[in-house]
Amino acid sequence: MSSPSKADLIHVFKGIPFTTRSSPELLKSLDNFDAREDDVLLVSYPKSGTHWLAGVITKLYNTQVTLTSPLEFGDISKLEELNKISSKRIIPTHLDYHMLPSNFKNKKCKMIYIIRNPKDTAVSMYHYYRDNPNLPTVDTWTAFFDLFLKGDVVCGSWFDHLLSWEEHKNDKNILFLFYEDMKKDLPKTVKDISVFLDLNIGDHEIQDICRKSSFSEMKRNTEKENSDPNHTVCALTSNRKLIFRKGTVGDWKNHFTPKQNVRFEEIFNEKMKLSKM
Ligand code: A3P
Repeated sequence: MSSPSKADLIHVFKGIPFTTRSSPELLKSLDNFDAREDDVLLVSYPKSGTHWLAGVITKLYNTQVTLTSPLEFGDISKLEELNKISSKRIIPTHLDYHMLPSNFKNKKCKMIYIIRNPKDTAVSMYHYYRDNPNLPTVDTWTAFFDLFLKGDVVCGSWFDHLLSWEEHKNDKNILFLFYEDMKKDLPKTVKDISVFLDLNIGDHEIQDICRKSSFSEMKRNTEKENSDPNHTVCALTSNRKLIFRKGTVGDWKNHFTPKQNVRFEEIFNEKMKLSKM
């Protein structure tokens, strides 16, 4: 059987490529979404550490919380499905700020945006594309590198995504985190998250959460859960080995040629010239 074409897997909505797992009907109806004041949004560009952050956040609560699949994944029945959840909802999303349902903004729901070095993000996404039958085939790293810089990948341009959120960096209900800071000092990030979410977490508990959220521990645990495709933040695969790949900072150095690095830096500096981050 021949592999599905790009058109079978990707469609463009408001200028942004989405997988066909995000139905156009759902995307169109997102603005009718009924946000609740206590919803917590977990926002990221793909491959920035969403699962890691989700793992940390769900461990912070003593009460029952439901980690949903991404807001924009599924068909029109998704909104109803989310409506039925009676416990507190932790909702991941890769939407850029302009596409986020206005209800979340009006109700000042708490949102956590995780940022990762775009070079490592690109490399992580390349491997994810390569090994995921639900995404278009990419033949080489060189080909993917060009697509990433053009924003011709799921969720569009890394630069546009970040810039759309960065405009709101002073909003009190949005916390910005860096993957690299989590790698350097996870207990500090966990503390920052708990303060932001108004949760009273002691140092002992923080240590315990950090231990359970290490790359090796999360990878080991999820391998046990591999059989349950619903148990995933990433609705694009039930193969959790695809998500817990390497978990390091600086893997881009093993992929970028010196020329690619120069080109990336030029584009980064141009696109991000007004960014304060
Ligand atoms: P790599 O592909 O570089 O290994 P997302 O969850 O947004 O899809 O991001 C996936 C990336 O986060 C993968 O990067 C994955 O290995 C990394 N990751 C997941 N859990 C992690 C953890 N506990 N510690 C460090 N990195 C983690």
